[in-house]
Amino acid sequence: MGKNGRIAILTGGGDCPGLNAVIRAVAKKAIIEYGLEIIGIEDGYDGAIHNRHRRLHYEDVSGIIALGGTILGTSNIANPYRYAMKESDKLEFKDVSQQAISNINKLKIDCLVCIGGDGTLSIASRLFKDGVAIIGVPKTIDNDLRGTEITVGFNSAVCIATEAIDRVHTTAQSHHRIMIVEVMGRNAGWIALHAGIAGGGDVILIPEIPYEMGIIAGKVNERNKMGKRFTIVVIAEGAKPNGGDVVIKRIVKESNDPIRLGGIGFVLMSQIEKMTGIETRAVIIGHLQRGGSPTPFDRILATRLGTKAVDMVEKEKYGYMAGIKGNSLSEVSLDYVAKGPRRIPLDDPLIQSARSVGTCFGDSL
Ligand code: F6P
Repeated sequence: MGKNGRIAILTGGGDCPGLNAVIRAVAKKAIIEYGLEIIGIEDGYDGAIHNRHRRLHYEDVSGIIALGGTILGTSNIANPYRYAMKESDKLEFKDVSQQAISNINKLKIDCLVCIGGDGTLSIASRLFKDGVAIIGVPKTIDNDLRGTEITVGFNSAVCIATEAIDRVHTTAQSHHRIMIVEVMGRNAGWIALHAGIAGGGDVILIPEIPYEMGIIAGKVNERNKMGKRFTIVVIAEGAKPNGGDVVIKRIVKESNDPIRLGGIGFVLMSQIEKMTGIETRAVIIGHLQRGGSPTPFDRILATRLGTKAVDMVEKEKYGYMAGIKGNSLSEVSLDYVAKGPRRIPLDDPLIQSARSVGTCFGDSL
């Protein structure tokens, strides 16, 4: 640890359950074990660019383990290296990283703890190369971060999605319908795969395995022949048909990752109804997956990773992220984390387990 006895924390990217549990773990350990002062930077990198921050005392981080969202606010748009600005109604991107770095330097901190997904931690990796002492903590409901087996927020999203699938199950059974549940996850199918298995989905469609309509219709017909007059389809927002493309919900021009996916569930609904002649409904559970209280699993994960991050500050292991490998805590370089998102490998044992219980992935395997 350096000489200042002060660290800053920021939460960047899309929010998720468990962020406050990480803030609490970092701040409490830093205060209790090292007597450090804690600064909370507001709204992710936006607060670094515009110098918005506040002191976090013990009382500020006490009683927040079960609280959803982030007490610091966040932004999934603000990037100091490519910051969107409106100049006479025209959108322009400027490099304001020197402004952000100078504001961070003025805080006289030993280290900045960045709690984020791949966007936030890729920026953290650049800031580290530009001289900022940084340690990362992984979070995202999508679980698509390189360098860790699991991210804070993922388990909560899976639990919410599983509950949605369970609820849809009973109505599908009653009406003898096909019900489609679309879940988030960007271009990775982690939420769909895990919630789909936990919810007993008959068909699970993930971005990593492009689907064929004929195979899905075949699965529905096979179930009908077995006397199962309903089918549950779980589809990731980033899933796409073989040779087709993803469905884009909106383009956020200010963002560095402007494409927001959503709506494939409704496209599939019309196609499957036409092919099978069976009444079909679709639901998109969307941001419900990011809201509310974290699961006990996420609170524990947040506490493990948050306290690990403070150990890394103590060791001056800057430029690294606290991660999970083989269910143990690990340290992984931000450089590696920044190499791009982590998708489901096609030989993931969970895909095999699901196939073994008859789950259809929309492919011909
Ligand atoms: O990365 C988290 C996530 O919820 C994705 O699953 C989803 O595609 C995206 O963020 C939605 O972003 P926004 O909150 O900007 O609509």
